[in-house]
Amino acid sequence: MKSNNKTHIKAAITAVGGYVPENFISNKDLEKMVDTNDDWITARTGIKKRRILNEKGKGTSYLAINAANNLLSKKKIDPETIDLVIVSTITPDFHCASTAPTVASAINAKNAYAFDLSAACSGFLFGMSSASSYIESGRYKKVLVIGADMMSSIVDYNDRSTSILFGDGAGAVLVEPSKNGYGWEDEYLRSDGIGAEWLKVKSGGSLFPVSSQTLKNKWHFITQDGKTVFKSAVSEMANATEQIIIRNKLDSDDIKYMLPHQANKRIIDATAEKINLDKKKVLMNIEEYGNTTAATIPLLMYDYEDKLKKGDKLILAAFGAGLTWGAAYLTWAYN
Ligand code: UT7
Repeated sequence: MKSNNKTHIKAAITAVGGYVPENFISNKDLEKMVDTNDDWITARTGIKKRRILNEKGKGTSYLAINAANNLLSKKKIDPETIDLVIVSTITPDFHCASTAPTVASAINAKNAYAFDLSAACSGFLFGMSSASSYIESGRYKKVLVIGADMMSSIVDYNDRSTSILFGDGAGAVLVEPSKNGYGWEDEYLRSDGIGAEWLKVKSGGSLFPVSSQTLKNKWHFITQDGKTVFKSAVSEMANATEQIIIRNKLDSDDIKYMLPHQANKRIIDATAEKINLDKKKVLMNIEEYGNTTAATIPLLMYDYEDKLKKGDKLILAAFGAGLTWGAAYLTWAYN
């Protein structure tokens, strides 16, 4: 439900940062690893490369720290002024302790508390929902939301249905009270646990702790029912976006850009078609990074920051494991 009791404080994204590793696996590289080929991957997914962090001793926190430091240095923000750091991820450094405190300490956010948020590919949207609520309530003034995933740590490079899709990366945004009336306008977020079966890492949690049997079964890798996830992603992302468009009385001409989760170019194209949005308005970088899970939307903001202008009406949409999905409407707050 759209909140009717919002305070006068509006939350706005006021800075963006990003980081992807230099190292990558191309479609040609994958041809040598699994039974696939560049033409198929390009035609069926739109992906050409995925960035891979393959340096010993570096995990998701490394990606998140680099994205956050990029944001802080670009805008010369004092990290000691940050109140809260949220790291959305499904690939934390450890199961316990959480990754966000490591990130907060490394960037010198001494006065912040920090927590991880697990919502897979919807992690950035869910993180923004939390951050904007904290700002709107007046409780905090500066919240850092980082979407970061090192998907290479849970991908089976013998499985052609997942290895072609996922990559590593991180994107960060700073959320503050809006100074000019632009910012987070509305969100429509949903989840459905019935679909947990379709996309998951089965072992390593409390239900199936790691054992020689779970290792033998390869349950520590991500697996999916690609076709089912594909269909649900298109229908739910389109439906969530339609809800947002209707209740905010937006016309598709009003929308400057859509920033969709980057899972598969065909999912993005089909979603845009369903909501009658001109494809030129749909931002993409999937060709270069593949699906970086919680990082896709903030990495789009990072890559296209120069294009985004004050007052632009933007739509975000995502779908992922859980199942989790949603859409959001924001007006961009700075040039
Ligand atoms: O953020 C959420 C995360 N996950 C997703 O969003 C995944 C959503 N699903 C997908 O993106 C797609 O389902 C995949 C990319 C995983 C698969 O694409 P598809 O169009 O659904 O392929 P398919 O499984 O229906 O297979 C079509 C054909 C089959 O051959 P035949 O039976 O038509 O001869 C497959 O054997 O393509 C074949 N195929 C491949 N060929 C080369 C399946 N995977 C591959 C591959 N390389 N990697």
